[in-house]
Amino acid sequence: MTRDGLELRKFVAPEFIIGADARLLAGRYAKNFGSRHVLVVTGPEIIRNGWVRDVTGSLEEEGIEHTIFSAITQNPRDTEVMEGAKVYAGSGCDAIVAIGGGSPLDCAKGIGIVSSNGGQILDFEGVDRIKVPAPPLICIPTTAGTGADVSQFAIINDTARKVKIAIISKKIVPDIALIDPVPLTTLSPELTAHTGMDAITHSVEAYVSNASSPVTDIHAIESIRLMMAHLQPACRAPEDLGLRYQTMLGSLCAGLAFSNASLGAVHAMAHSLGGFSDLPHGECNALLLEHVMAYNFPACPERYEAIGHAMGLDLGSLGHTERREKIIAGIRTLRESLGITASLGDLGVTAADIPALARNALQDPCMATNPRQPTQTDIERIYEEGL
Ligand SMILES: [Fe+2]
Repeated sequence: MTRDGLELRKFVAPEFIIGADARLLAGRYAKNFGSRHVLVVTGPEIIRNGWVRDVTGSLEEEGIEHTIFSAITQNPRDTEVMEGAKVYAGSGCDAIVAIGGGSPLDCAKGIGIVSSNGGQILDFEGVDRIKVPAPPLICIPTTAGTGADVSQFAIINDTARKVKIAIISKKIVPDIALIDPVPLTTLSPELTAHTGMDAITHSVEAYVSNASSPVTDIHAIESIRLMMAHLQPACRAPEDLGLRYQTMLGSLCAGLAFSNASLGAVHAMAHSLGGFSDLPHGECNALLLEHVMAYNFPACPERYEAIGHAMGLDLGSLGHTERREKIIAGIRTLRESLGITASLGDLGVTAADIPALARNALQDPCMATNPRQPTQTDIERIYEEGL
């Protein structure tokens, strides 16, 4: 009997709770972990919107002290991680609660790594470089896109080299994710669109990844369905909790898919842009996705057609070329309908930047699982298409 496609596959996921007001369980879980003093890692906007107060209130109810660390920028920097680790040690913390988008969550993972292992955060670049497990980490995402709340990835900006490094390890999967749609109700339509396109990119890249598996496929395809149906309506009605829940579910499925199947050229190229010019991660993905799909398509057309079906496209009577065009046009139409219409050039990227951007993208670990292995010239051409 053939065993093709039946090889052993691992799927890593944290415990998570999804539902309205999940954030209010932070105190109870911190207590379960035996914590007496929590470092709350977050950003200024989340504090302004009142979501951090809810979390610190739940800690106080359990008699747990806290220190807030919120000096984090949109692409979290190595220096911010090291500063956060200093605050963690100085305050005598024994656990971390991260609340926010991808930046506070990734920064919190970095703080945990340095707190347990010492050294400099950049020392842990790559796969499985962390020896000692990080302290208990509770993640509360406030965007429907990051996936950092369930993933084994942390992306940190190396400010000296101006590149983003990836740290990938089972040891940074959060101990619990509290996935709550309520904080999404204060997320602007623009950030909803950017982060939602990040989630869609996670699913598309996980589905066509060389490391995909039947279990990651199920999550990736369902995530595409959920995001296609609910992202645009959620942008139009930010306070609709039902729509926000569906996008959070889509983001969760995308996170589980990419954490286990890894990503591809879109993320490699977006990481390069984020490190080089500090551009928003979701917007970079949104602008690159259709161009990378066009490049990758010949490597796995049947995979992209399954994505097209999940997008709700009728591909039945079309030939190979028309199918490809319709799927890519579907992504472009979604992006434009979400108001993401700037080019990379509009964001300040110039033709002179492209060779260095492409060099860094080729070094990114996400490139290893892209279904087609590009050359420097291929990557330069894709960036040019986005200018
Ligand atoms: Fe992403």
